[in-house]
Amino acid sequence: MRHVLDIDDLTKQDLERILDLGLAASYNKTLAGKGVACIFEKPSTRTRNSTEMAVKQLGGHPVYITGVEIGIDVRESASDIANTLACYHEVICARVYDHQVLERMAKSNVVPVVNLLSDRAHPLQAIADVMTIKAELGSVANKTVTYVGDTNNVAVSLAFAVGALGGEIRLASPSGYSLVEDDRQRLEAAGVVPKIVEDVSEAVEGADVVYTDTWVSMGQEDEKEKRLSDFDGYMVDDDLMARAPEAIFMHCLPAHRNEEVAASVIDGPQSRVWVQAKHRQNAAVGVLAWLQEGADLGSE
Ligand code: CP
Ligand code: NVA
Repeated sequence: MRHVLDIDDLTKQDLERILDLGLAASYNKTLAGKGVACIFEKPSTRTRNSTEMAVKQLGGHPVYITGVEIGIDVRESASDIANTLACYHEVICARVYDHQVLERMAKSNVVPVVNLLSDRAHPLQAIADVMTIKAELGSVANKTVTYVGDTNNVAVSLAFAVGALGGEIRLASPSGYSLVEDDRQRLEAAGVVPKIVEDVSEAVEGADVVYTDTWVSMGQEDEKEKRLSDFDGYMVDDDLMARAPEAIFMHCLPAHRNEEVAASVIDGPQSRVWVQAKHRQNAAVGVLAWLQEGADLGSE
């Protein structure tokens, strides 16, 4: 049973196959007549819309389910929910607060589980990100991607995807917001060793991609004041981008202008955030089509 909880659930060949499937000129209707459960415990603009439209593109029917409605571990257990949804759906996609919920759903092994963002990982974003880098720069291999800010779910999945495709990943975070040991070990096991550079100017020097994300992720709202103060000096602004004049700027969005990124950068000529947002749908198509290939293999 294939699951996509983070990029390290995929081999390099799997990832490349997903990129090919997602960027194909035409799609087989591999989900024709089939359902895909789309659970959202947190809000979403890009992920919900790109996933639902990807399911439609493959001929399937997405069912949007809110966290409140389904009550994971409140109304019933994650595994009872997975077993129930598997009666009607081919795939369970879920955006959750706690990554372990996805692990417990996947452990039921009834249908593939896809992470639509958890506290630990955001694999569909990372797949869209490497699609964007390939489209804009020709390849990920031998490119340097500098992530500035909070080493969060987006940063870790990005590191896996860039590393898997032979790129260099640099992480520039203030003290206390750097790569946690568990993620460092998982990355190392996948053969990815990010360069941790606390000096943000040094980290950006010569980069091909400069990437940032919010300093306050969903679920961290209570820490907002402290985080805004701790991240002082880590805004991606024109002075920082001037250190990598050929680089493209990326952001998973939603963005907070003049917090993690200057408005002049995200709305400026180096920014590729709309190309990136568009690739979210290709990424979802790629993953869903790849899961269907796995299901076809399983039924042979
Ligand atoms: N980048 C991203 O996942 O956006 P949403 O939270 O709007 O889905
Ligand atoms: N790190 C952010 C990403 C949002 C797409 C969050 O988890 O809220």
